Amino acid sequence: MAALVLPPVLLLVAGVELRSAALEPVSLSLAIGVASVLTGYLSLAPFYCALLECCPDDDSRPDAAALQLTLDEKLFGQHLAKEVILRAVTSFINNPNPKKPLALSLHGWAGTGKNFVSQIIAENLYEAGMRSKFVHLFISTLHFPHKHQVQLYKDQLQKWIRGNVSACAKSVFIFDEMDKLHPGLIDAIKPFLDYYEQVDGVSYRRAIFIFLSNAGGNLIMKVALDFWRSGRLREEIRLQDLDEALSLGVFNNRNSGLWHSSLIDRNLIDYFVPFLPLEYQHVKMCIRAEMMSRGHLIDEDTVWKVANEMTFFSTDEMVYSDKGCKTVQTKLDFY
Ligand SMILES: *[C@@H]1O[C@H](CO)[C@@H](O)[C@H](O)[C@H]1NC(C)=O
Repeated sequence: MAALVLPPVLLLVAGVELRSAALEPVSLSLAIGVASVLTGYLSLAPFYCALLECCPDDDSRPDAAALQLTLDEKLFGQHLAKEVILRAVTSFINNPNPKKPLALSLHGWAGTGKNFVSQIIAENLYEAGMRSKFVHLFISTLHFPHKHQVQLYKDQLQKWIRGNVSACAKSVFIFDEMDKLHPGLIDAIKPFLDYYEQVDGVSYRRAIFIFLSNAGGNLIMKVALDFWRSGRLREEIRLQDLDEALSLGVFNNRNSGLWHSSLIDRNLIDYFVPFLPLEYQHVKMCIRAEMMSRGHLIDEDTVWKVANEMTFFSTDEMVYSDKGCKTVQTKLDFY
């Protein structure tokens, strides 16, 4: 009867007291748990980082030999790109004190392997590859489609780059369809590529920027064709043979390369990476590699069928695959 006459407030207080008393042992064991996790933190860190990705520290080094192996096994017909990428990436990641972020500009026709190589680089740096939270892909027509919103995109992009590099210095930014990127956005990226020690308290020197574009594809094809015409091996093409074509053609051409001139003039791009047009034999190599990665035995009959379904671009004397290896996967699905 006495309980019934207790005022509600008193009941409430009694209830809370009762509950907190009941919780005491629980919170105590929680505290013990937290403490033991904290003391065990160092040994748990790798486990934690395997579950939730961690930003690599300054002296963690990606495996250069693995990068070479992957390029050798999976990238076909691109001896120049292979050589430049390997040199650029390994020297950058082994440099304890880079003076600027690494900026690579990948050129060539669609399907020659530009996206593929970016993916290989991402996978060499981060186990999750393109899915890593430290790898960021921007596609001009998808992420920045409207001309009238350039100012908004600009602010957003700068905020993202700053935010992500502050969170992890070794962030990777990939810009696809660079030839379709608004010049205003190029200006927005420029300060991050420069030789500054810091910009507003953030250092960008360990970041990697990769720009992909079709610009220069035709010029690269012309050089390849000239070599073929004069009976020389494709593998004999050296960077110097393309340098002139690329620098004069791509970057002085208002339609395809104006965007680049400001990056070039200031030497903000560290390496130009040319991708040669692919021949019939290279397409067949891609098909075989894809079959192997699916765990199939290589069946030349299917290789031949798939290769013949691909479309080829033909000059008078020579044929090049017009989409490279791009549609190999979907074509192979049919067989
Ligand atoms: C990092 O970049 C992504 C875009 O890839 C963006 O959505 C995100 O907000 C950025 N993070 C920070 C902290 O700015």
